[in-house]
Amino acid sequence: NLSDQICKQLLGWYDQNHRDLPWRNTKDPYHIWVSEIMLQQTRVDTVIPYYERFMEKFPTIQTLAHADEESVIKAWEGLGYYSRARNLHGAAKEVTAKYDGQVPQHPDDISTLRGVGPYTAGAILSIAYNLKAPAVDGNVMRVFSRLFALHDDIARPATRRLMERVAMKLIPDDRPGDFNQALMELGAMICTPKSPRCLACPLHHQCKAFDQDLVLKLPVKQKA
Ligand code: ADE
Repeated sequence: NLSDQICKQLLGWYDQNHRDLPWRNTKDPYHIWVSEIMLQQTRVDTVIPYYERFMEKFPTIQTLAHADEESVIKAWEGLGYYSRARNLHGAAKEVTAKYDGQVPQHPDDISTLRGVGPYTAGAILSIAYNLKAPAVDGNVMRVFSRLFALHDDIARPATRRLMERVAMKLIPDDRPGDFNQALMELGAMICTPKSPRCLACPLHHQCKAFDQDLVLKLPVKQKA
């Protein structure tokens, strides 16, 4: 069926083409967490050296929890959006105190941590714990809008929830983390906003927007 085909094509492409990024050589939930927080508002190339320095300075969640705020902010200097660093530090303290330093595996627990929204929760649960959880960000919404010719306004909160249901139907039981990262990778490398490389896309045979010449009209984004 269509879902199986999409999975197979996408994972096959990911296996051959994914970038070797430092946080892809670990399953440590704390490391995945730091990478996802840094990647939220910052480009991959910029994040790499910050991620590596941060991990040298704070190799475990306990080291981060016990650090003083000033040294955490200093390690973040240049990345901007410092509330990300303060939230991460606060959440590390909470995980250390409340969960004995183990990043929780339950969606309800992980989602209560400071700075951990639905996207970050899904990314950590799927990539670190290989749990079936959607990790829908702007890239993934663009890919789904095009793949299924969805005209829902991606600026509406209800649309992200719709996309999460779409994702849940597609995520394979055996490789949730790779599947989510493959979607992100496709959005970053191929299914880009302005000049998507459709002929290089592993999903162009399945893509409704490609078929209907709607690629550059999607996704729909109404509010600013
Ligand atoms: N952007 C957000 N998460 C990412 C990841 N895990 N790899 C590459 N780019 C990303």
